[in-house]
Amino acid sequence: MEKAEAPGRAAAIGPALLAWYDRAAREMPWRVGPAARAAGERPDPYRVWLSEVMLQQTTVAAATGYFTRFTTLWPTLADLAAAADEEVMAEWAGLGYYARARNLVKCARTVMARHGGAFPADLPALLALPGIGPYTAGAVAAIAFDRPAVVVDGNVERVVARLFAIASPLPGARAELSALAGRLTPALRPGDHAQAMMDLGATICTPRKPDCGGCPLATHCRGHALGLAADLPRRRVRPEKPTRYGIAYVARRPDGALLLERRPPRGLLGGTLGFPGSDWVTGTPRPAPPLGADWTRLAGEVRHTFTHFHLILTVMAAQAHEGANPERGAFLASADYDPSALPTLMRKVHDLASGARTVERSAPAL
Ligand code: ADE
Repeated sequence: MEKAEAPGRAAAIGPALLAWYDRAAREMPWRVGPAARAAGERPDPYRVWLSEVMLQQTTVAAATGYFTRFTTLWPTLADLAAAADEEVMAEWAGLGYYARARNLVKCARTVMARHGGAFPADLPALLALPGIGPYTAGAVAAIAFDRPAVVVDGNVERVVARLFAIASPLPGARAELSALAGRLTPALRPGDHAQAMMDLGATICTPRKPDCGGCPLATHCRGHALGLAADLPRRRVRPEKPTRYGIAYVARRPDGALLLERRPPRGLLGGTLGFPGSDWVTGTPRPAPPLGADWTRLAGEVRHTFTHFHLILTVMAAQAHEGANPERGAFLASADYDPSALPTLMRKVHDLASGARTVERSAPAL
């Protein structure tokens, strides 16, 4: 095994990484690749910001479809700022964490109002925008404006932990890893450097089986030299996620209208449309039918995992009368109902209710 260089020799890492990025940069619809960038092309800050917000929720592969759809509907920041909140929320469905979608529109409107529609390039002004935290501010400053901001996501944490053989566990090690990432950030081409770190983490310095043989930084990597790369970064052992239980109610009128309810703006799935239900609790949920009807329990349950708990929903279905007057929610005509606009959890409820057999008696399929 080659001897790794001392961690203090971070200066050699930047050029080796950029040389690799020039050969191997991944293509992404929001990215200006290294050749185009060297030729003077500049990324559109709106597209960089939008992609970074999406990439905090999902993978590059999954974000690409959402990105294309958003930029087709709203090609510019001004277009997004003028969009109806509901429409943006519906397009965000499936990405989860709806506060981001709400902040997306708020941020677009704030940039219009405060900065004349042009994203600011400096960190304090970026950080002052709705929904923009240190990661997004750093990513936009570096990638869109080529500022030497330190950009640390999960990929970068892993790369740095291995390069410097940092054995202290996450999340405690975060500040140390960020400081080390800062030492690697070059004054020249910091935007390409940030993207190269992410690409390296996503394609070579992968979580389980890093391809150290194909890594442009292997000779600089202490983790590799010590045979530790695949075991880093270490993580504090997490307690098991608890399981909560709830009941969801799917009521359908003879004309096909479905009873839906908008959740309160704050909290999980805040502001999204879905089927009314009980509270989600660790014990037995208290029934909370949204209208009086002959409720039938559907075979099967809906399972969904949130950041802090697993959820198991029992789905009840009923035919409502033509003039049914729900205590919660409102009937939505079938023509106005688009299950693909529901958040994933409610899509699962819809899918179960559309196809399910019942345990107690036959339930109406949707
Ligand atoms: N993950 C998050 N942002 C990214 C970017 N700009 N390039 C590659 N991977 C990313």
